[in-house]
Amino acid sequence: MKNVTIVSHPLIDHSLTILRDKDTKTEEFRRHADVVSKLILIEATKQLKLMDKKVGTPLAPFTGKELKDDIIVVPVLRAGLAMLIALRDFLPAVSVGFIGLERDEKTAIAREYYKKIPQIFSTHIVLVIDPMLATGGSMDDTVSAVKAKGAKRIVAVSIVSAPEGIKRFTEHHPDVPIVTAAIDTHLNDKAYIVPGLGDFGDRYFGT
Ligand code: PRP
Ligand code: URA
Repeated sequence: MKNVTIVSHPLIDHSLTILRDKDTKTEEFRRHADVVSKLILIEATKQLKLMDKKVGTPLAPFTGKELKDDIIVVPVLRAGLAMLIALRDFLPAVSVGFIGLERDEKTAIAREYYKKIPQIFSTHIVLVIDPMLATGGSMDDTVSAVKAKGAKRIVAVSIVSAPEGIKRFTEHHPDVPIVTAAIDTHLNDKAYIVPGLGDFGDRYFGT
């Protein structure tokens, strides 16, 4: 599929299976959500540009590298917070914008209840993070919102995606690559991903 990267790694397969298991409890779910998020985010940040940085080791001067790109991350509340927590370990100073979206249980259409996105310049790399890309509505709306703020370089990152959501998203945003760990078979009649892992937010936050 054009524009879609499926991140493949034995540790992702291992942890994602634990996430999918309906018997996995909150503590384990959080731990493995963190592992999978980190591995996917490493792939999603692979294209970041570097510049030289001179430092001194205890033994000699050394020209190393530092990140050149300015990054903004936008987690989709609430489940996206799980991926933000994972990202914090390797991008501790990243700027964060928020969008709160909640799907209507009957229609599966996302309703916006909160938005605070900083000013975005065309040079910024914007990572939109949301573990589940089901109908694609939440990711579609969030990417439209960051584009409206000026974003030109966007990467959409999810853990589990549905073919229906990928189709909708790539039709509306052909310029935005998707990085995901899995594309499952379909959505059920309640727009849940099958086989999926159930409601990510409820399982991660223990609600
Ligand atoms: C879930 C999930 C995504 C969205 C995906 O959020 O975290 O944000 O559904 O579905 P879509 O692709 O069909 O839009 P939910 O609305 O359940 O809210 P929550 O994160 O607060 O649990
Ligand atoms: N949101 C979830 O948390 N899970 C799904 O399967 C679909 C949307």
